[in-house]
Amino acid sequence: MREIDSLSKVSIIGAGNVGASCAQRLAERNYADIVLVDIADGLPQGRALDILESAPITGFSRRIIGSGEYREAANSDVVVITSGLGRKPGMTRDELLKANVSIVSDVVRRVADCSPDCTIIMVTNPVDAMTYLAVSASGFPHSRVVGLSGVLDGARFRSFISAELEVSASDISACVLGQHGENMVIIPRLTTVGGRPITGLLPQETIDRLVKRTVEGGAEIVGLLKTGSAFYAPSAAVAQMVDAIIRNEKRVLPCAAYLDGEYGIKDSVIGVPVKLGGKGIEQIIELELTGEEKVALVNSANAVRRLIDGMKLG
Ligand code: LAC
Repeated sequence: MREIDSLSKVSIIGAGNVGASCAQRLAERNYADIVLVDIADGLPQGRALDILESAPITGFSRRIIGSGEYREAANSDVVVITSGLGRKPGMTRDELLKANVSIVSDVVRRVADCSPDCTIIMVTNPVDAMTYLAVSASGFPHSRVVGLSGVLDGARFRSFISAELEVSASDISACVLGQHGENMVIIPRLTTVGGRPITGLLPQETIDRLVKRTVEGGAEIVGLLKTGSAFYAPSAAVAQMVDAIIRNEKRVLPCAAYLDGEYGIKDSVIGVPVKLGGKGIEQIIELELTGEEKVALVNSANAVRRLIDGMKLG
């Protein structure tokens, strides 16, 4: 069982906007040393130094460094992988697949070498396929590789519901499963406000509109920014996942996880609720789904499976 102690260490690979924003959020939590790694000369060093120089104001005291060397990330408890190309306008996450396979498999091997006991949080898109790649390239138990998906998508859905119903997003619990992408499976029946399903609170057309906006949530931001993709909400979602592991919170969060028969899905990665704690994924939670919802989830897993087959691992 991992204890929070003075030795906790979190490394973030990739010092782009998502990686650097994660580094800032995690540094400010003050529970671990933070290492930001990137091959771009000066980028991780500059961003880490900038964050370090905020410490006298924000009040954190743990170490933060930036480096081009994986050895600085050795013996981390958690390693967040954000390396790879991001989405450009009009580009799907799946189109990123080919470009990111070679980058991510190299990064994962280095991470597994230098931090053999860590839990990997995969962020690089297409995240479900990249999480599968990380399971395969690291040789880690499935429980120690988890991907960012439903925490982010659920936060988007909750934000939209919150605005519609004028109720705090904190009191909304969203059920978002499946692929982080076009085949996301959002279950309004299990999305609740103070225990009441939104199916009884909002008209069906409104729910459909909010579901569509959530599925296209990443693309909406890409369309607005024009030169990059979202990072504030993604990094907040990653930080919540890191909290669950470092603080052994045993949170039930929707994450991309390797399935070995759960939900009738074998040898694929897809977003499902998991119990996330000091040992990584401590349990995969199987919700009671209707026949239609099960079909949607299996279709979503099949879409991920096609990407996995396209990576030609092995
Ligand atoms: C998004 C990207 C990170 O959903 O997939 O914003």
